[in-house]
Amino acid sequence: MLSKRLRFIADKVKENSNVLDVACDHGLLAIYLEKEKNCNVIGTDIKNSAIEGALRNKKKYNANVKFFVADGLSKLTSDINTVIIAGLGSQTVIEILDTDLKNVNTLIVSVQKDLEDFRRFIHIKGFKIKESLVFDKRYYNVFYLTKGIEKYSNIEYKYGKDLIDNKENINYFKELQKRYENKNDEELEFIIKKLSHKD
Ligand SMILES: C[S@@+](CC[C@H](N)C(=O)[O-])C[C@H]1O[C@@H](n2cnc3c(N)ncnc32)[C@H](O)[C@@H]1O
Repeated sequence: MLSKRLRFIADKVKENSNVLDVACDHGLLAIYLEKEKNCNVIGTDIKNSAIEGALRNKKKYNANVKFFVADGLSKLTSDINTVIIAGLGSQTVIEILDTDLKNVNTLIVSVQKDLEDFRRFIHIKGFKIKESLVFDKRYYNVFYLTKGIEKYSNIEYKYGKDLIDNKENINYFKELQKRYENKNDEELEFIIKKLSHKD
């Protein structure tokens, strides 16, 4: 029922959490979390047509998820501890999260572009970063964010502290290097060299 990318995100959610899935679209992730992880879930999307689809899936899977048409975090209540935002641009996610997060202690976010801006914003917001990659026809960066303070160096903000330490990510960095703007990036060269010599 879920794509590899959404399943990867679902696996990060703790059982019995109170979840808000922002930009839920078809609602399948929200429904999966209710069914398989015993979560209380609200799914929201800015588009009517998305919520109509989610409501059809709710019926199809006999799910107990609440779906609403809503912008960003407008349905955030004080009992929600986990917010998921996947499939939106970094700048939109930053705008959405730049508000009072009430009792949210876990954010699970997937964004692909402007990653340095996103990592810096998350630290200013008072969350720590665990970042991983999932390959589902292309690479997706998935951020598991919990409350706390930590510091990154400039290269860690640019390329992701967890990513540059993991040998398994070498092909991701090689792919970044192929993109025109990174062709002569010495830091990227350094990361690839370091990862290829790692045991
Ligand atoms: C690419 S889909 C992602 C769906 C799903 N989260 C996923 O990762 O597969 C993006 C969805 O975000 C919704 N969206 C865009 N801006 C939004 C906002 N400000 N608040 C809520 N939903 C939004 C769109 O209507 C669309 O359904």
